[in-house]
Amino acid sequence: MSPLVCETPETDWKASFSREFQQASLQHLEEGFILFFPNLSFHLTGDETEFLSPHIVRKSKNVSYSVSNREIKGTVLTKQAAFRIGNLMHRFAESTRGLLYNLLPRYRGSLKQGRTSFRPVEIAGRLTSWRKDDTRLHVDCFPSTPLRGRRILRAFSNVNPAGCPRHWRVGEPFPDLAERFFPKLKTSFPGMHTLLHLLCLTRAKRSEYDHYMLQLHDYMKQDLDYQKNARQDALEFPAGGTWLLYTDQVSHAATAGQFQLEQTFYLPVSAMERPATSPLRILEKMAGRCLA
Ligand code: SIN
Ligand code: FE
Repeated sequence: MSPLVCETPETDWKASFSREFQQASLQHLEEGFILFFPNLSFHLTGDETEFLSPHIVRKSKNVSYSVSNREIKGTVLTKQAAFRIGNLMHRFAESTRGLLYNLLPRYRGSLKQGRTSFRPVEIAGRLTSWRKDDTRLHVDCFPSTPLRGRRILRAFSNVNPAGCPRHWRVGEPFPDLAERFFPKLKTSFPGMHTLLHLLCLTRAKRSEYDHYMLQLHDYMKQDLDYQKNARQDALEFPAGGTWLLYTDQVSHAATAGQFQLEQTFYLPVSAMERPATSPLRILEKMAGRCLA
């Protein structure tokens, strides 16, 4: 395993952790490490294994679930089956929230739970545009859902029934990445964020931070020389494993694997122990101004 990953043997989603372990986990995450629980498995019940098929999704390639209103998107399943996969995803949403609350008590009052996603399609060889191609190194940010400086903390579980790992590559630390691409990043033109919002192209008004992060994402993915030659480690996350990271900070690419659950959480930078490690503060320091 790469030195970028902190490995821990926990097997129980409801485990409680020592103060030292909580503190070390918080520090590692904020510094841009991946917390890896190789034995923390998310179990499907017997009849849920029928959902382990790439044929249950539409073009989006993911089933998406909202724990707050139980809305399911992206599946071709019948209403009844969609209700059952919703139950599965609800369990994952609650398990990951419980884990984060116990592991990172500092964040408890500030974490906002985003969507849950199930990814039943093999990633290797999938045809997509370069911008949507997550087999290329990138940091996460969303074109239509502005972050306005909030962090993206994600939990992943590999539920592959044949025991196949999920293959990732992890790139250089965020400060190096920001330094490399910052000279290319341009400020927005006046009124741009308002216009995009008025045209309903964004769910809220973008901040300059979103504008910078989207450019960073695109410059990374477009640059084939960077994709090939940038410093990077290959990682394998085994079936039955779970991992946590800030995907807005850790440069990552998912190169192969099938059947994964993912849960997104948002966190305001002000809730961090060390906000200076956040992409927002790093980019602000370089820009010499407030970006969100
Ligand atoms: C991504 O966030 O880029 C994809 C991760 C994955 O599906 O393993
Ligand atoms: Fe990503």
